[in-house]
Amino acid sequence: MKFGHFDDSTREYVIETPKTPYPWINYLGSEAFFGLISNTAGGYNFYKDARLRRITRYRYNNVPIDMGGRYFYINDNGTVWNPGWSPVKTELDAYECRHGMGYTIITGKKNDLKAQVTFFVPNGYDGEVQQVVLTNEGSAPKTFKLFSFAEWCLWDAQDDCTNFQRNFSTGRVEVDGSVIYHKTEYRDRRNHYAFYSVNDAIDGYDTDRDSFIGLYNGFNNPEAVLAGKATDSFADGWSPIASHYKEITLAAGESKTLIFILGYVEMPVDQKFEADGKTINKVKAKAMIEKFDTPEKVAAGLADLKASWDKLLGILNVATPDDKVDRMVNIWNQYQCMVTFNLSRSASYFESGIGRGMGFRDSNQDILGFVHQIPDRAKERIIDIASTQFPDGGCYHQYQPLTKKGNADIGGDFSDDPLWLILSVSAYIKETGDWSILDEMVPYDNDMSVAQTMLEHLKVSFYHIVNNLGPHGLPLAMRADWNDCINLSCYSDTPGESFQTYTNPKFKAEGGYSKVAESVMVATLFTYTGPNYVAILKHLGKDDEAAAAQAEIDKMKKNIMESAWDGDWFLRAYDANGEKMGSKECEEGQIFIEPQGFAIMSDVGKEQGADKKTLAAIDERLNTEFGLVLNNPAFTKYYIQYGEISTYPGGYKENAGIFTHNNAWIICAAAYAGEGDQAFKYYSEIAPAFTEETSDIHKTEPYVYGQMIGGKDAGSDIGRTGKNFGQGKNSWLTGTAAWNMVAISQYILGVQPDFDGLKIDPSIPSAWDGFTITRKYRGAEYKVTIKNPDHVCKGIKSVTVDGSAIEGNILPVFDGGVHNVEVVMG
Ligand code: GLC
Ligand code: GLC
Repeated sequence: MKFGHFDDSTREYVIETPKTPYPWINYLGSEAFFGLISNTAGGYNFYKDARLRRITRYRYNNVPIDMGGRYFYINDNGTVWNPGWSPVKTELDAYECRHGMGYTIITGKKNDLKAQVTFFVPNGYDGEVQQVVLTNEGSAPKTFKLFSFAEWCLWDAQDDCTNFQRNFSTGRVEVDGSVIYHKTEYRDRRNHYAFYSVNDAIDGYDTDRDSFIGLYNGFNNPEAVLAGKATDSFADGWSPIASHYKEITLAAGESKTLIFILGYVEMPVDQKFEADGKTINKVKAKAMIEKFDTPEKVAAGLADLKASWDKLLGILNVATPDDKVDRMVNIWNQYQCMVTFNLSRSASYFESGIGRGMGFRDSNQDILGFVHQIPDRAKERIIDIASTQFPDGGCYHQYQPLTKKGNADIGGDFSDDPLWLILSVSAYIKETGDWSILDEMVPYDNDMSVAQTMLEHLKVSFYHIVNNLGPHGLPLAMRADWNDCINLSCYSDTPGESFQTYTNPKFKAEGGYSKVAESVMVATLFTYTGPNYVAILKHLGKDDEAAAAQAEIDKMKKNIMESAWDGDWFLRAYDANGEKMGSKECEEGQIFIEPQGFAIMSDVGKEQGADKKTLAAIDERLNTEFGLVLNNPAFTKYYIQYGEISTYPGGYKENAGIFTHNNAWIICAAAYAGEGDQAFKYYSEIAPAFTEETSDIHKTEPYVYGQMIGGKDAGSDIGRTGKNFGQGKNSWLTGTAAWNMVAISQYILGVQPDFDGLKIDPSIPSAWDGFTITRKYRGAEYKVTIKNPDHVCKGIKSVTVDGSAIEGNILPVFDGGVHNVEVVMG
């Protein structure tokens, strides 16, 4: 069942009912000021950091769901409604929500009054513009009341929802004409305030929540709205809000446009106040308000935003026989990559914006999906991330975007982290050809006095693996590898202990984590990423170092085949007792997905047919109609030696859920191994556009990936197998965005930026006749036509560039211009 449709011509998803199976959201902003907005206008805003600079409140885990937002209330002679249906939930005569690239348009209609609200964050602007167009579509004049509503958060989202003995007394506002200012703590230690304005005279306002809503009422029936009049309340502690009130009369057919702005301002400390020493200096706010105080200016701002997306999405474009592929590659997957790049895993409808900042591994992987769009910002991000590394190559697992410093309370020792840096730096160079990133001086632990070149950071990353091997010569698993829930040093039997940061005292003498537990996944990630480091060294003429690094990779491959090949697939790990995890010999969890793809892509055991055997085992044991489960059989009891993974009921999350992120590695691997049909099958099982038809089962947005889909074992422990099979969770902020962008564009469609140029190597469904790609790369534009007359999955017969045949399949780098490329498969 569908709840809307794709409008590819406008790059929008059009939601046709407010009652989607879960709130379906969008992100506004892509630089500093952000907003999350659901299809009923729920959500919140923040500046740079969803925890430390939260601007409006939102109630996670609320009943009903999705409470807190930017709400417009209309009281039309006693009929009270919202253009986005919620929170009043009066049945509307018409409803539509268009989520587009950085903007959302919600339209509601009731009793001949139409209200269309456009929400967006203009480029280079620290505020959300909300343009409300009210139209009387009836044949008689209409008089009604409009109320806006936003609830201020007292800046630190964590403190805001816990520290009530203080916070109920600190709230402060100012009202100046039609502008409501939020200035809690501005008098003392903060140099920033927020405001909510409207470009017209108002008939009243409210700034105190309880006066507006009523202590025993809710967002669905605010007292002031029901009464049809604001109370002109003034917040003094308790919960400050901003609500404008206006009585409006429209003649038949008449329209009125109002522009609301929710903005954020920072002031130099010596200019915070006017001469009286206490009134806010509003100069910057006024300038911001003026910037969008007419519909023409708003239209220009929106056009500018759209133009920037045209540019971002104009770098890679494909036309394949499948319009679902085209809309994923050309629009939504690239869009989601931008969002994950901006927000990492911090703020979605599943991530509260409080728990995590930017992840070292997550943000490095996000670069892979995004680097072609804005390489400059990718470079800046890579340097920020690398700056939280330690001199031995280890690193903080997370950092806060506002301070850019590593989170000491989480610490480091996640075994995979350093390797992702090698991958992101390589991806940056492959895209841009800018080798100078290797010469950048990058601090360790944000201490510039011990800075080293980026190349040195790559070296310590590489050798952090080599220097931390276990008894089988495989990398130590440490606190966790990519899978945060395989915690082989945890052994926790006490509720509340963090599986990732707590390590059992029994490992104290060994330095905090087991020196026996080994990760096969990190071993294969090493053999997959390592060759990039070798290629970089060779390019720099450091042949001895390259040979030494290559020897480590070769040794690792040997160790994997000697100790981690289970006969038909690769083991997952050795636990702290030295027992195999992910083997036929195990009672449960016999096969895991994570090591397999990287092993195949680095040709481990290829001469023995390990790649094909592994792909067959994956197809047999892990594949389902909704994607590949992470492990099989699911764990049905708690294995203290494995950690968090076995705390999840089977079929969810890392315990045999369909964890889409690692599905992408198998898609890549199948494509790499020449199995284009198999690769595409797995791709189409999870790519959101393909799940649109089953939105009632899938529940989350059909235009973006989620982290997890309920696996085939979901509910099996309670006798309800299959009930939540196929149900998506944790949408938006997932490494799947970047990795599936890589999977479809580089491995299936085969456009692979490489160190020396753009490589073309498709691995497609054999049924396809061919497809075309337009790719801007290092200043030139390539128009590539791929023909598949023999209906193969993989293989290239000939490549011609601008009419002349070339050797091999790496397109030459040009100094600008448009170049026609014809590739014949066979
Ligand atoms: C989450 C985390 C990511 C981790 C994955 C598997 O998506 O953000 O860092 O690799 O789960 O546990
Ligand atoms: C985090 C959480 C863990 C979660 C994992 C990823 O590390 O602590 O509970 O399952 O991320 O899925």
